[in-house]
Amino acid sequence: MVAPLGDLSPAQFLAQYWQKKPCLIRQAIPDFEPLLNGDDLAGLACEEMAESRLISGSFAAADWQVQHGPFDEAVFSSLGEENWTLLVQDVEKHYAPLQALMAQFRFIPNWRLDDLMISYAASGGSVGPHTDQYDVFLLQAEGTRRWQIAETYNPELLPDCALNVLRRFTPEQEWLLEPGDMLYLPPNVAHHGVALEPGMTWSIGSRAPSAADLLQGLGEWLAFTDNEGSRYRDPHLEPATRPGEITSDALQGLRELMLTHINDKNSSDAFLTTFMSRFRLAHEPVPPPASMQPEAVLQALQEGQTLLRNPWTRLVWTEADGRARLLVAGQARECEIWLATALCTGQQPEINTSRVDSEALATLTRLINSGHFLLNPFK
Ligand code: SIN
Ligand code: CO
Repeated sequence: MVAPLGDLSPAQFLAQYWQKKPCLIRQAIPDFEPLLNGDDLAGLACEEMAESRLISGSFAAADWQVQHGPFDEAVFSSLGEENWTLLVQDVEKHYAPLQALMAQFRFIPNWRLDDLMISYAASGGSVGPHTDQYDVFLLQAEGTRRWQIAETYNPELLPDCALNVLRRFTPEQEWLLEPGDMLYLPPNVAHHGVALEPGMTWSIGSRAPSAADLLQGLGEWLAFTDNEGSRYRDPHLEPATRPGEITSDALQGLRELMLTHINDKNSSDAFLTTFMSRFRLAHEPVPPPASMQPEAVLQALQEGQTLLRNPWTRLVWTEADGRARLLVAGQARECEIWLATALCTGQQPEINTSRVDSEALATLTRLINSGHFLLNPFK
């Protein structure tokens, strides 16, 4: 699989640009043919399961408006010819063939990649100058878009606006992107993309938890796993002299209580992997109506049926003592490393049935019976 990085290897891109500076890659995907068009996107935006937004306005008029989907089809015929953008999140999860595009970005670890957001813009369409907290690859899929960026900017936002749009924006660089061109932006670079003609931008987005996300998650985790276990203790307490004071020794003791949990490698690794297997996941698979027996799973695989991962399933694993601790939407399971690696490779992982012993079969059966994988009779 060739990474869409032009002349750069993944190692060069990561060393020179990732999380550091913008990178324009002309013809990152030469002869790019989008697998869906604006009408398909509008259809998806009418579905309950899809998260969509319709944004209209322009920087000059500062008249931004946002509507959230699901939309009624009639909305699209009422839009004018200019200055609007339809955006849909997680499109690769709704339309499986797009997983092949995401696979081209697997030089970024699975757990750091988020989704494919597709925007369709009319001429002049834009979401305004703004910053994002995540790295993004902005692939021009159709039409021409002008991207302007600024690494130094005034962070003040437009007041009373439903969108996070910068009040002022002075571009430092600008480019016209044609289909197949791609602009990588690290977090917090201000950017403003305006469609010069109707077209689509496909954003391959990443995810990274904030300290607040992690600490909130850790608190919830401990509430389940350690609700009575550890509490602040002060056996060396000395008489209080100044009413109301929390001494710096007491603060240190409180901090150490928190740090005990953060520094407990086993428990915090278990928390972190569990947390990342669900972080920012909009939906989770539901179990199928009928469950399968292990023998039937093995037979199906031996007959050449393949596994198909539910698009909403996220798998992550860590190595411990030569085995994998596999996390699937918050559920942990130990298995062999070859199986964890195979299950995490693509949407249709290849399983070598000659390696499937009773433990691997139990894992596969459980993943199928909990709705994370389907058996697909068509290769
Ligand atoms: C867009 O596709 O219009 C916006 C993408 C972005 O700025 O992150
Ligand atoms: Co953005």
